[in-house]
Amino acid sequence: MSPVVFAMPGNDALATALAARLGAEKGACTVRRFPDGESYVRVETAVQGRDAVLACTLDRPDDRIAPLLFLASAARDFGAVRVGLVAPYLAYLRQDARFSPGECVSAHVFARWIALHFDWLVTMDPHLHRIPDLEPAYGIPVRVAHAAPAIAAWLRENVAEPVLIGPDMESSQWVDEVARLAGAPSIVLEKKRRGDREVVVSVPDPGKLAGRTPVLVDDIVSTARTMIEAVRHLRAAGLPAPVCVAVHGIFAGDAFEALRAAGAGRIASCDTVAHPSNIIAVDTAVAASVADVLNAISSRPSGNEAAE
Ligand code: R5P
Repeated sequence: MSPVVFAMPGNDALATALAARLGAEKGACTVRRFPDGESYVRVETAVQGRDAVLACTLDRPDDRIAPLLFLASAARDFGAVRVGLVAPYLAYLRQDARFSPGECVSAHVFARWIALHFDWLVTMDPHLHRIPDLEPAYGIPVRVAHAAPAIAAWLRENVAEPVLIGPDMESSQWVDEVARLAGAPSIVLEKKRRGDREVVVSVPDPGKLAGRTPVLVDDIVSTARTMIEAVRHLRAAGLPAPVCVAVHGIFAGDAFEALRAAGAGRIASCDTVAHPSNIIAVDTAVAASVADVLNAISSRPSGNEAAE
Protein backbone atom coordinates (compact mmCIF):
# COMPACT_ATOMS: atom_id res chain seq x y z
CA MET A 1 0.00 0.00 0.00
CA SER A 2 1.20 3.50 -0.76
CA PRO A 3 2.59 5.66 2.06
CA VAL A 4 0.51 8.49 3.53
CA VAL A 5 2.16 11.88 3.95
CA PHE A 6 0.76 14.17 6.63
CA ALA A 7 1.56 17.88 6.93
CA MET A 8 2.04 19.40 10.32
CA PRO A 9 0.94 23.07 10.36
CA GLY A 10 3.09 25.16 8.02
CA ASN A 11 4.36 22.13 6.11
CA ASP A 12 1.65 21.76 3.51
CA ALA A 13 3.81 22.58 0.48
CA LEU A 14 6.47 20.11 1.61
CA ALA A 15 3.92 17.35 2.22
CA THR A 16 2.24 17.96 -1.16
CA ALA A 17 5.61 17.85 -2.96
CA LEU A 18 6.66 14.70 -1.11
CA ALA A 19 3.39 12.92 -1.85
CA ALA A 20 3.68 13.79 -5.55
CA ARG A 21 7.33 12.75 -5.81
CA LEU A 22 6.86 9.52 -3.82
CA GLY A 23 3.60 8.46 -5.48
CA ALA A 24 2.09 8.61 -1.99
CA GLU A 25 -1.27 9.81 -0.71
CA LYS A 26 -1.45 13.21 0.95
CA GLY A 27 -3.19 12.45 4.22
CA ALA A 28 -5.69 14.55 6.13
CA CYS A 29 -5.25 15.35 9.79
CA THR A 30 -6.37 17.93 12.30
CA VAL A 31 -3.83 19.70 14.47
CA ARG A 32 -5.21 22.53 16.59
CA ARG A 33 -5.08 24.07 20.02
CA PHE A 34 -7.63 23.88 22.78
CA PRO A 35 -8.42 27.26 24.34
CA ASP A 36 -6.07 26.43 27.21
CA GLY A 37 -3.14 26.06 24.80
CA GLU A 38 -2.98 22.25 24.83
CA SER A 39 -2.82 20.42 21.48
CA TYR A 40 -5.53 18.33 19.83
CA VAL A 41 -4.55 16.05 16.94
CA ARG A 42 -6.52 13.60 14.85
CA VAL A 43 -5.46 11.31 11.97
CA GLU A 44 -8.23 11.37 9.35
CA THR A 45 -6.79 9.20 6.58
CA ALA A 46 -6.58 5.42 7.05
CA VAL A 47 -3.03 4.38 7.93
CA GLN A 48 -3.64 0.72 8.78
CA GLY A 49 -0.84 -1.34 7.25
CA ARG A 50 0.77 1.70 5.60
CA ASP A 51 3.86 3.85 6.07
CA ALA A 52 2.98 7.18 7.65
CA VAL A 53 5.28 10.09 6.82
CA LEU A 54 5.01 13.25 8.92
CA ALA A 55 6.35 16.43 7.30
CA CYS A 56 7.43 18.89 9.98
CA THR A 57 10.40 21.18 9.76
CA LEU A 58 11.63 21.95 13.24
CA ASP A 59 12.65 25.58 13.50
CA ARG A 60 11.06 27.19 16.59
CA PRO A 61 10.58 23.62 17.80
CA ASP A 62 9.08 24.07 21.24
CA ASP A 63 5.58 24.80 19.91
CA ARG A 64 5.78 22.11 17.26
CA ILE A 65 7.11 19.14 19.13
CA ALA A 66 4.14 18.20 21.35
CA PRO A 67 1.55 17.99 18.50
CA LEU A 68 4.12 16.25 16.30
CA LEU A 69 4.70 13.49 18.83
CA PHE A 70 0.94 13.19 19.45
CA LEU A 71 0.27 12.77 15.72
CA ALA A 72 3.03 10.16 15.40
CA SER A 73 1.52 8.31 18.32
CA ALA A 74 -1.99 8.46 16.83
CA ALA A 75 -0.71 7.15 13.47
CA ARG A 76 0.89 4.21 15.23
CA ASP A 77 -2.24 3.56 17.34
CA PHE A 78 -4.29 3.36 14.14
CA GLY A 79 -2.07 0.75 12.54
CA ALA A 80 0.72 2.49 10.59
CA VAL A 81 3.45 -0.09 9.98
CA ARG A 82 6.11 2.56 10.37
CA VAL A 83 6.03 6.25 11.18
CA GLY A 84 8.75 8.47 9.71
CA LEU A 85 9.68 12.10 10.25
CA VAL A 86 10.76 14.48 7.49
CA ALA A 87 12.29 17.52 9.18
CA PRO A 88 14.30 19.52 6.62
CA TYR A 89 15.53 21.66 9.52
CA LEU A 90 16.39 19.56 12.55
CA ALA A 91 16.29 21.28 15.93
CA TYR A 92 18.35 20.91 19.08
CA LEU A 93 21.72 20.08 17.62
CA ARG A 94 23.66 22.95 19.20
CA GLN A 95 23.69 21.86 22.85
CA ASP A 96 25.47 18.59 22.16
CA ALA A 97 27.65 18.66 25.28
CA ARG A 98 27.49 19.87 28.88
CA PHE A 99 29.56 23.06 28.97
CA SER A 100 28.63 24.03 32.55
CA PRO A 101 27.43 21.94 35.49
CA GLY A 102 23.66 21.53 35.60
CA GLU A 103 23.06 22.00 31.87
CA CYS A 104 20.81 19.64 29.94
CA VAL A 105 22.42 18.09 26.87
CA SER A 106 19.31 18.80 24.84
CA ALA A 107 20.68 17.25 21.64
CA HIS A 108 20.68 13.83 23.29
CA VAL A 109 17.31 14.22 25.03
CA PHE A 110 15.70 15.44 21.81
CA ALA A 111 17.16 12.49 19.89
CA ARG A 112 15.60 10.10 22.41
CA TRP A 113 12.17 11.77 22.06
CA ILE A 114 12.31 11.45 18.28
CA ALA A 115 13.53 7.85 18.36
CA LEU A 116 10.76 6.90 20.79
CA HIS A 117 8.04 8.01 18.37
CA PHE A 118 9.56 7.59 14.90
CA ASP A 119 11.02 4.67 12.99
CA TRP A 120 13.19 6.80 10.70
CA LEU A 121 14.25 10.39 10.09
CA VAL A 122 15.10 12.44 7.02
CA THR A 123 16.69 15.85 7.39
CA MET A 124 18.85 18.26 5.40
CA ASP A 125 22.38 19.45 6.16
CA PRO A 126 22.15 19.16 9.95
CA HIS A 127 24.40 21.39 12.01
CA LEU A 128 26.74 18.84 13.61
CA HIS A 129 29.63 19.57 15.97
CA ARG A 130 30.42 16.84 18.48
CA ILE A 131 27.83 14.41 17.12
CA PRO A 132 29.64 13.07 14.07
CA ASP A 133 26.77 11.02 12.70
CA LEU A 134 23.05 11.29 13.39
CA GLU A 135 22.11 7.65 12.89
CA PRO A 136 23.98 6.22 15.90
CA ALA A 137 22.97 9.26 17.97
CA TYR A 138 19.27 8.80 17.18
CA GLY A 139 19.33 5.00 17.04
CA ILE A 140 16.96 4.87 14.04
CA PRO A 141 17.65 4.94 10.29
CA VAL A 142 18.55 8.50 9.25
CA ARG A 143 19.07 9.94 5.79
CA VAL A 144 20.68 13.35 5.27
CA ALA A 145 19.78 15.27 2.12
CA HIS A 146 22.10 18.00 0.84
CA ALA A 147 21.22 21.46 -0.41
CA ALA A 148 24.48 22.05 -2.33
CA PRO A 149 23.19 20.87 -5.75
CA ALA A 150 20.09 23.09 -5.54
CA ILE A 151 22.13 26.11 -4.37
CA ALA A 152 24.72 25.58 -7.11
CA ALA A 153 21.99 25.32 -9.75
CA TRP A 154 20.42 28.56 -8.50
CA LEU A 155 23.78 30.34 -8.55
CA ARG A 156 24.52 29.18 -12.10
CA GLU A 157 21.26 30.70 -13.28
CA ASN A 158 21.21 33.86 -11.16
CA VAL A 159 24.71 35.08 -10.29
CA ALA A 160 27.41 36.06 -12.81
CA GLU A 161 31.01 35.09 -12.00
CA PRO A 162 30.43 34.14 -8.36
CA VAL A 163 33.12 33.55 -5.77
CA LEU A 164 31.83 31.48 -2.87
CA ILE A 165 32.77 32.73 0.59
CA GLY A 166 32.28 30.82 3.81
CA PRO A 167 32.14 33.00 6.93
CA ASP A 168 34.00 30.42 9.07
CA MET A 169 35.89 27.14 8.87
CA GLU A 170 32.77 25.13 9.70
CA SER A 171 31.11 26.42 6.55
CA SER A 172 33.87 25.08 4.32
CA GLN A 173 32.14 21.70 3.98
CA TRP A 174 29.14 23.11 2.11
CA VAL A 175 30.84 26.17 0.58
CA ASP A 176 33.47 24.03 -1.13
CA GLU A 177 30.83 21.61 -2.41
CA VAL A 178 28.60 24.40 -3.73
CA ALA A 179 31.65 25.99 -5.40
CA ARG A 180 32.65 22.69 -6.99
CA LEU A 181 29.15 22.10 -8.35
CA ALA A 182 28.83 25.72 -9.54
CA GLY A 183 32.28 25.68 -11.13
CA ALA A 184 33.34 28.71 -9.08
CA PRO A 185 36.26 29.47 -6.73
CA SER A 186 35.80 29.59 -2.97
CA ILE A 187 37.47 31.00 0.14
CA VAL A 188 36.68 30.65 3.83
CA LEU A 189 37.04 33.43 6.39
CA GLU A 190 37.99 33.10 10.04
CA LYS A 191 35.35 33.72 12.69
CA LYS A 192 35.60 34.20 16.45
CA ARG A 193 32.33 34.10 18.42
CA ARG A 194 32.41 36.28 21.55
CA GLY A 195 28.85 35.61 22.72
CA ASP A 196 25.33 34.72 21.52
CA ARG A 197 25.12 37.94 19.51
CA GLU A 198 28.75 38.96 18.93
CA VAL A 199 31.11 37.53 16.33
CA VAL A 200 34.29 38.87 14.72
CA VAL A 201 35.26 37.83 11.20
CA SER A 202 38.69 38.20 9.58
CA VAL A 203 39.23 40.46 6.54
CA PRO A 204 39.88 38.33 3.46
CA ASP A 205 42.48 39.01 0.80
CA PRO A 206 40.43 41.22 -1.56
CA GLY A 207 42.76 40.34 -4.45
CA LYS A 208 41.28 36.84 -4.64
CA LEU A 209 37.81 38.30 -5.13
CA ALA A 210 38.54 40.89 -7.81
CA GLY A 211 36.06 41.00 -10.69
CA ARG A 212 33.72 38.44 -9.15
CA THR A 213 30.38 38.61 -7.35
CA PRO A 214 30.92 37.70 -3.69
CA VAL A 215 28.45 35.05 -2.48
CA LEU A 216 28.37 34.27 1.23
CA VAL A 217 27.01 30.80 2.03
CA ASP A 218 26.25 29.46 5.50
CA ASP A 219 24.22 26.53 6.73
CA ILE A 220 22.23 28.47 9.35
CA VAL A 221 21.47 32.16 9.54
CA SER A 222 19.91 32.70 12.96
CA THR A 223 20.77 36.08 14.51
CA ALA A 224 22.66 36.80 11.23
CA ARG A 225 25.60 38.18 13.26
CA THR A 226 27.99 35.85 11.45
CA MET A 227 26.76 36.97 8.00
CA ILE A 228 26.60 40.61 9.07
CA GLU A 229 30.24 40.65 10.20
CA ALA A 230 31.31 38.99 6.95
CA VAL A 231 29.24 41.45 4.87
CA ARG A 232 30.72 44.44 6.73
CA HIS A 233 34.28 43.31 6.12
CA LEU A 234 33.66 42.59 2.47
CA ARG A 235 32.06 46.00 1.97
CA ALA A 236 34.85 47.71 3.93
CA ALA A 237 37.33 46.05 1.58
CA GLY A 238 35.55 47.77 -1.31
CA LEU A 239 33.68 44.74 -2.64
CA PRO A 240 30.19 44.92 -4.11
CA ALA A 241 27.16 43.96 -1.99
CA PRO A 242 27.50 40.21 -1.45
CA VAL A 243 24.73 37.79 -2.29
CA CYS A 244 23.88 35.97 0.97
CA VAL A 245 22.68 32.37 0.80
CA ALA A 246 21.42 30.31 3.76
CA VAL A 247 20.53 26.64 3.73
CA HIS A 248 18.37 27.23 6.81
CA GLY A 249 17.23 30.86 7.04
CA ILE A 250 15.90 31.13 10.56
CA PHE A 251 16.31 34.92 10.75
CA ALA A 252 15.50 35.33 14.43
CA GLY A 253 13.94 38.66 15.43
CA ASP A 254 15.17 41.50 13.21
CA ALA A 255 18.03 39.46 11.71
CA PHE A 256 16.82 39.79 8.12
CA GLU A 257 16.46 43.58 8.27
CA ALA A 258 19.81 43.90 10.08
CA LEU A 259 21.53 41.87 7.38
CA ARG A 260 20.06 44.10 4.69
CA ALA A 261 21.07 47.22 6.61
CA ALA A 262 24.63 45.91 6.94
CA GLY A 263 25.00 46.03 3.16
CA ALA A 264 23.96 42.59 1.92
CA GLY A 265 22.82 42.28 -1.67
CA ARG A 266 20.25 39.66 -2.59
CA ILE A 267 19.40 37.36 0.31
CA ALA A 268 18.32 33.86 -0.71
CA SER A 269 17.41 30.85 1.38
CA CYS A 270 16.42 27.26 0.79
CA ASP A 271 12.82 26.46 1.67
CA THR A 272 13.70 24.30 4.69
CA VAL A 273 12.41 27.05 7.01
CA ALA A 274 9.49 29.18 5.81
CA HIS A 275 10.67 32.76 5.17
CA PRO A 276 10.08 35.43 2.49
CA SER A 277 13.69 34.86 1.30
CA ASN A 278 12.89 31.25 0.29
CA ILE A 279 13.85 30.94 -3.35
CA ILE A 280 15.75 27.65 -3.58
CA ALA A 281 13.48 24.59 -3.49
CA VAL A 282 14.94 21.46 -1.92
CA ASP A 283 11.99 19.06 -2.11
CA THR A 284 13.64 17.00 -4.88
CA ALA A 285 16.63 16.17 -2.66
CA VAL A 286 14.46 15.59 0.42
CA ALA A 287 12.07 13.31 -1.49
CA ALA A 288 14.99 11.27 -2.84
CA SER A 289 16.21 10.67 0.72
CA VAL A 290 12.69 9.68 1.85
CA ALA A 291 12.38 7.25 -1.07
CA ASP A 292 15.77 5.79 -0.15
CA VAL A 293 14.93 5.21 3.51
CA LEU A 294 11.45 3.83 2.73
CA ASN A 295 12.98 1.44 0.24
CA ALA A 296 15.66 0.34 2.72
CA ILE A 297 13.34 -0.32 5.63
CA SER A 298 10.37 -1.78 3.75
CA SER A 299 12.13 -5.13 3.59
CA ARG A 300 12.68 -5.15 7.37
CA PRO A 301 10.04 -6.30 9.86
CA SER A 302 8.13 -3.38 11.37
CA GLY A 303 8.40 -2.56 15.07
CA ASN A 304 4.93 -4.05 15.58
CA GLU A 305 5.80 -7.28 13.75
CA ALA A 306 9.15 -7.60 15.52
CA ALA A 307 7.41 -7.36 18.88
CA GLU A 308 4.89 -10.07 18.05
C1 R5P B 1 27.93 28.18 13.03
O1 R5P B 1 28.70 27.30 13.32
C2 R5P B 1 26.96 28.09 11.91
O2 R5P B 1 27.50 27.50 10.76
C3 R5P B 1 26.42 29.46 11.58
O3 R5P B 1 27.51 30.29 11.18
C4 R5P B 1 25.74 30.07 12.75
O4 R5P B 1 24.76 29.18 13.23
C5 R5P B 1 25.11 31.37 12.39
O5 R5P B 1 24.50 31.90 13.52
P1 R5P B 1 24.14 33.42 13.61
O6 R5P B 1 23.29 33.76 12.41
O7 R5P B 1 23.39 33.55 14.90
O8 R5P B 1 25.43 34.20 13.63
